[in-house]
Amino acid sequence: MEKRFLEEYKEYIRKIGDRKALYKAVAKAYGVQQAIYPGSFIDISPSLVIPEVIYIDNFKGAIRFFKQMDGIQDYIEQNKEYPQACEISFIGQDYTEPLEIGQVDLIISQYAGFVGQETKQYLKPGGILLCNDSHGDATLARFDDDFELIGVVSGNNEVEQGELERYFKLPKEKPIDLKMVKDKMKGLKYTAAAENYVFRKIS
Ligand SMILES: C[S@@+](CC[C@H](N)C(=O)[O-])C[C@H]1O[C@@H](n2cnc3c(N)ncnc32)[C@H](O)[C@@H]1O
Repeated sequence: MEKRFLEEYKEYIRKIGDRKALYKAVAKAYGVQQAIYPGSFIDISPSLVIPEVIYIDNFKGAIRFFKQMDGIQDYIEQNKEYPQACEISFIGQDYTEPLEIGQVDLIISQYAGFVGQETKQYLKPGGILLCNDSHGDATLARFDDDFELIGVVSGNNEVEQGELERYFKLPKEKPIDLKMVKDKMKGLKYTAAAENYVFRKIS
């Protein structure tokens, strides 16, 4: 019989889909070795393709899942796609509170609020923020002087680095209301959109 965490992880993947190919494409394109994933829930796929990942979530279901760390580590060791040992850890706290961690190469932001804004101090200069715009995190990064849009990732997990000026434009060039995005915690309906956006921290 499968371990409980593995049943839970496989059920989660059945429901939301497997993002391993997304994380792999970004890790390969930008040479990522270390990442943090605030609001990860139980999405441990990054560890299959990135050697050092810190997961952060304050939901009790996530905290319970990561209590099975020995089993999770064994599973990652057996299924990882890089030669070095995996380093995986979990912090069961609110990511908006101070975190005792160093700076990393990549922040992953998926459907978990304003992760890029709240945790960018843990990103190395030149590091990468991978986010979608479900909660408006990509919109906030696009208009944040600390970040530069350097790519998008399409639904078939290809990183595209050209014609980026066409993103984050509203129909009829309507102005973008960042206050509304923050208040509603929701992305906007732009004339061109991608599944995921890649930003570089430039300051
Ligand atoms: C909708 S789920 C998305 C989970 C995962 N990223 C995914 O894409 O399937 C949002 C997760 O973010 C976590 N989260 C939201 N705000 C958080 C915060 N301030 N601190 C820690 N975790 C947070 C929630 O507990 C939840 O597990």
